[in-house]
Amino acid sequence: IKDWNGIDQVVVRNPQGSSVKVSLYGGQITSWRNEQGEELLFTSSKAIFKPPKAMRGGISICFPQFGNCESLQQNAFARNRIWTIDENPPPLHPNDSHGKSFIDLLLKPSEEDLKFWPHSFELRLRVAIAADGDLVLISRVRNINGKPFSFSFGYHTHLSVSDISEVRIEGLETLDFLDNLRQRERFTEQGDAITFESEIDRVYLSSPNVIAVLDHERKRTYVVRKEGLPDVVVWNPWEKKSKSMTDFGDEEYKQMLCVDGAAIERPITLKPGEEWTGRLTLSVVPSSFCSEH
Ligand code: BG6
Repeated sequence: IKDWNGIDQVVVRNPQGSSVKVSLYGGQITSWRNEQGEELLFTSSKAIFKPPKAMRGGISICFPQFGNCESLQQNAFARNRIWTIDENPPPLHPNDSHGKSFIDLLLKPSEEDLKFWPHSFELRLRVAIAADGDLVLISRVRNINGKPFSFSFGYHTHLSVSDISEVRIEGLETLDFLDNLRQRERFTEQGDAITFESEIDRVYLSSPNVIAVLDHERKRTYVVRKEGLPDVVVWNPWEKKSKSMTDFGDEEYKQMLCVDGAAIERPITLKPGEEWTGRLTLSVVPSSFCSEH
């Protein structure tokens, strides 16, 4: 299907009726729906599907840099490029339990890209919807360069929540974090689960592979499972910053929370021919499930 800017989007559906939609612009996930057709990702009503910026919402792929860097665009260029579909994707890997409902997208640098990031790579993004409705994203970065290169990476994930003041994150307590609102200074999380009452922009370091985002009002929990992605960015612009963003509604900060599986603090280095894999699996379960298990 075409989105409103004429760029193709692909819908992958499992036999049970859950679905994921991915745009060839940025390899960005623009929708994830459960069997009942309910949308599970946040997209701003003011989102713009137009280069040169990523659409405000869904899940954007941040590579080769997550965060700000002088020479690259914020959160880097992979999310602002047109990707291609791999019509002959490699067969399922023994570790890939997601089943047959998937698509592989590919990104290789253009001549232009190589001028400011002179490293040849292939980025393969597998977008899968498992039989139980889980959204599975597997990114593989391969060095097809003659020299080693380093990068950071993130799945910039906008979860849809009922009311941010009713949400908490479990799994990040006691961790060290870099506070992007205070010159990336390092602090240690003291409290219990993380709750929200003001702007937040933090990189939690060396986090567990499973964290939970509990939405008390909707009585459901997003379970975020990740591999190869030690860090987690937690972002909510809150009131003042929301008003300054042209592609974000003034009140929309209440309905969304970014929880991004990422590799930031220690960049990944690949030698020629080497490959790195970063997996993210998102599930939604009733909240009672989490307290019982
Ligand atoms: C977060 C960053 O991941 O994304 C924030 O930590 C940033 O600093 C936010 O403001 C939004 O980024 P963007 O590039 O999608 O506007």
